[in-house]
Amino acid sequence: MTSTENFYDSVGGEETFNLIVHRFYEQVRTDDILGPMYPQDDWEGAEARLRMFLVQYWGGPKDYSEQRGHPRLRMRHAHFPIGVTAAERWLELMTRALDSLEEGTLTDDQRAAIWDHMVRAADMLINSNPDPHQRD
Ligand code: HEM
Repeated sequence: MTSTENFYDSVGGEETFNLIVHRFYEQVRTDDILGPMYPQDDWEGAEARLRMFLVQYWGGPKDYSEQRGHPRLRMRHAHFPIGVTAAERWLELMTRALDSLEEGTLTDDQRAAIWDHMVRAADMLINSNPDPHQRD
């Protein structure tokens, strides 16, 4: 059985999650759908929250819980109207962030594990139907 502790270390620890989240947010800032949803005066804070969450989820230090408490992702996203379009866009930008890593940083299996978690989380966070971005 593989432990998540080993997973965090085996993908390169903090540096790898730093890069993924940084490259993700570089795109979010100027994204027409996602950009306006995020706190315009706290991009660094937003980046740190997602990074700490992923680091902790995959077995790294537990800074997220220490600073933010229980993740409760559904509750924390409840006041953002997230339809299918926004969820797909989030995943699209995250794919590009993962693709931007230097070749060999993640094995195919590691990438698939990270991706699977992202897809399941994004699906779970859809809270708006019909999709507000498709309304006139
Ligand atoms: C489905 C599309 C998604 C949208 C539109 C979305 C949008 C947002 C927004 C606008 C914030 C507030 C930024 C901040 O101030 O921290 C946020 C926070 C956050 N998101 Fe998402 N998100 C999505 C998916 C995800 C997924 C898939 C994950 C996990 C893999 C995730 C994890 C987080 C975390 C950990 C926070 C910070 C929560 C906190 O401690 O306050 N989000 N998201």
